[in-house]
Amino acid sequence: MLATPTIESPEEAARRAKESTLLSPRFYTTDYAAMNRIDVSSIRAEWDAMLAEYEGDNNHDHFQRTPEFTQEVAERFSQVSPELRQEFLDFLVSSVTSEFSGCVLYNEIQKNVENPDVKALMRYMARDESRHAGFINQALRDFGLGIDLGGLKRTKAYTYFKPKYIFYATYLSEKIGYARYITIYRQLERHPDKRFHPIFRWFERWCNDEFRHGESFALILRAHPQLISGANLLWVRFFLLAVYATMYVRDHMRPLLHEAMGLESTDYDYRVFQITNEISKQVFPISLDIDHPAFRAGMERLVRVKIRVDAAKARGGLVGRLQQAAWAVAGAATFARMYLIPVRRHALPSQVRMAAAW
Ligand SMILES: [Fe+2]
Ligand SMILES: [Fe+2]
Repeated sequence: MLATPTIESPEEAARRAKESTLLSPRFYTTDYAAMNRIDVSSIRAEWDAMLAEYEGDNNHDHFQRTPEFTQEVAERFSQVSPELRQEFLDFLVSSVTSEFSGCVLYNEIQKNVENPDVKALMRYMARDESRHAGFINQALRDFGLGIDLGGLKRTKAYTYFKPKYIFYATYLSEKIGYARYITIYRQLERHPDKRFHPIFRWFERWCNDEFRHGESFALILRAHPQLISGANLLWVRFFLLAVYATMYVRDHMRPLLHEAMGLESTDYDYRVFQITNEISKQVFPISLDIDHPAFRAGMERLVRVKIRVDAAKARGGLVGRLQQAAWAVAGAATFARMYLIPVRRHALPSQVRMAAAW
């Protein structure tokens, strides 16, 4: 189901990492002066405990290749079909891009602020994301498809986001990242015969880093209650839907990847939404009604629209362009209707931090 050309050369891998579409991982810049003014004094005790965890660095030895890694790639991954291979490579390229996106953003904030709380946090998170990106890139190098991350940093387009949008978007992407990795890890723990690549064995300790990164943004948001109340809840709602919809459409473009793990894309995605909804109650007083029939129908329609947009793009010419525009409007209208589905409301817990218990 993936668009051609296939990822068989480092040039194509680099092109995929660099591409800017509605669905591809982006690089961000923000307002560093505003970041400098973040005040965590109202949640100081929880903040300091969290920074002590980063300092302790319990994953410092986790992202190392073992001799079995290479052996497992040779024995098991060489057996997979060319179609699954492509979907997996697409997964690795988009994952390394989003890990590195976090690394670049956190590192830029760290360099541009004086605020010691923010600086320390960003330095730790950039450290973690750089390990994550490096580890995936090594897996890509096994196939001669390593990405030049320095080059990507220089040439990829950057999107400017106000700090509050950075907080909503990164909070959600860290927590959804945790939910995605832990769901895969648990599935393959139950079905080790379906672990067709060794990288999945690293996901458990890996996703604890993502969980903690999400906790950091949860604390920042809770320290600034105006960001999670009043009119800003309209933004929260927008980001929840945007993050969920992007994931759903992307995942449905690679059904074989989930099938190979004994999962089904729709079922997998709803498990991930369920976990993310549970976690995000720590910080958002609203959550999306993922069981609403109109929500489910809307997600399916977005996938169909994406398939039509790709077909129109492949067709090209004036007709192709017109069709593409028409389907883009249909996609936006579907998104708008989903945005209007009533949300669930809940009170925020007095203690912000929670355990990664999935
Ligand atoms: Fe990461
Ligand atoms: Fe992260």
